[in-house]
Amino acid sequence: MSDRLFIFDTTLRDGEQVPGCQLNTIEKIEIAKSLEMLGVDVIEAGFPVSSPGDFQSVVEISKAVTWPTICALTRAVENDIRVAAEALQYAKHKRIHTGIGTSDYHIRHKFNSTREEILERAIACVKYAKNFVEDVQFYAEDAGRTENEYLARVVEGVIAAGATVVNIPDTTGYCLPWEFGDKIKYLMENVRNIDKAIIAVHCHNDLGMATANTIAAICNGARQAEVTINGIGERAGNTSLEEVVMTCKCHKELDIETNINTQRIYTTSRLVSSLMNMPVQANKAIVGRNAFAHSSGIHQDGVLKNRESYEIIDPKDVGIDENSILLTARSGRAALKHRLHILGIELEREALDKAYESFLKLADRKKEITDDDILIIAGKHHVPNRRLKLDFLQVTSGVGVHSVASVGLDIAGEKFEACASGNGPVDAAISAVKQIIHRQMVVKEFLIQAMNKGSNDVGKVHMTVDYNGSHYYGFSANTDIVAASCEAFIDAINKFVK
Ligand code: KIV
Ligand code: ZN
Repeated sequence: MSDRLFIFDTTLRDGEQVPGCQLNTIEKIEIAKSLEMLGVDVIEAGFPVSSPGDFQSVVEISKAVTWPTICALTRAVENDIRVAAEALQYAKHKRIHTGIGTSDYHIRHKFNSTREEILERAIACVKYAKNFVEDVQFYAEDAGRTENEYLARVVEGVIAAGATVVNIPDTTGYCLPWEFGDKIKYLMENVRNIDKAIIAVHCHNDLGMATANTIAAICNGARQAEVTINGIGERAGNTSLEEVVMTCKCHKELDIETNINTQRIYTTSRLVSSLMNMPVQANKAIVGRNAFAHSSGIHQDGVLKNRESYEIIDPKDVGIDENSILLTARSGRAALKHRLHILGIELEREALDKAYESFLKLADRKKEITDDDILIIAGKHHVPNRRLKLDFLQVTSGVGVHSVASVGLDIAGEKFEACASGNGPVDAAISAVKQIIHRQMVVKEFLIQAMNKGSNDVGKVHMTVDYNGSHYYGFSANTDIVAASCEAFIDAINKFVK
């Protein structure tokens, strides 16, 4: 029988730490339910002591989800652990994930401490967490750069203290695959009570090796992989769920099985990308737009004759249905409902009618409606705070003329108008908004991204606005990129104008 690999998803904790990817509780519940349908074993729902919002999300996800274990992160601090236990009170299966940095970098520079003291703290935090829950996972932060002999002492100590799972993170994404594999092998061979706990790995992708390191660890005995959907996460991200799961599925010789329903991978990927406003790079393994697109004639010919000549994964295995109906202006309500269902969205009659109306309007302007468009239409990409709304926008621009914009804003029901010029239509529109808002705001980052291809595409705009030294993120999507830019600016303003 194959060995079971437990999938621990940290999209809602490590993934959600990415600037601009913050979710509200309703969105987190939606993702948690999608992860449950996907078949993950553990959902890391948040870091409850970090903010009231994170605490509440762990509470609500605990209520909403049935099968997966709900996990809450803490530092090796008693108050963190108490707060996590309280947040987990409604979870059917609960786990506290506590830990401390074990590398000399952390011990000396972060804690100004010694190896012996850190070992004691590690053991103490596990013992303390055991007062609240049976299932306690310990993380040795920066284990990737922790000397193996000391790491083995820590692992042995925390298992003796009752840890059910011990997490070996490569926090900085520094390790090479064989080095990380050897680290796990060393622990398997040198920790006397290793059979009493599951060894987990949590890799970051700073050198693009998160998946390789995770697989190397699995080959050497790790049996829990900590992952995120689409590999999202701080800096270069975390190990991506879809890559680890599909590697295990493709490479039968690894003899590893997971509980993941791989046919839900694509749906979950789209949902996370859309709710977090985080586009998936086109050539991303497994879930990127081009992952199964063959453009070279030789490849197309090969695939037509026998798919396996050029494809190691059947797109249907990850839920990409090549035969799915193309939605156009002639598609009916039933076709839209079917596509929404495939995307994991069920709308009540009234909401479906509204979505269908928006769909017809967009289909009039755009030949082919994509899944991203559908998510936007269904309102699943963003839940804006609507104190400030763009009422109207008129822009004159072109070659050899000044760009001028007239903007109308609705601020909590009151109407305001302004007109401004700029070095281009976006600059003019933003200057007009600034005239109404009267605050010192500077656009720091501005990214316009086409969702697919073609001049009739929907443009997504990501913007960061500096106000009073803090950065606020704004997003919008529109077939008119000047309107999308202006709306993204307003979206960011909505985050600080209360
Ligand atoms: O990267 C890391 O070390 C972490 C721990 C908190 C598990 O995210
Ligand atoms: Zn991490």
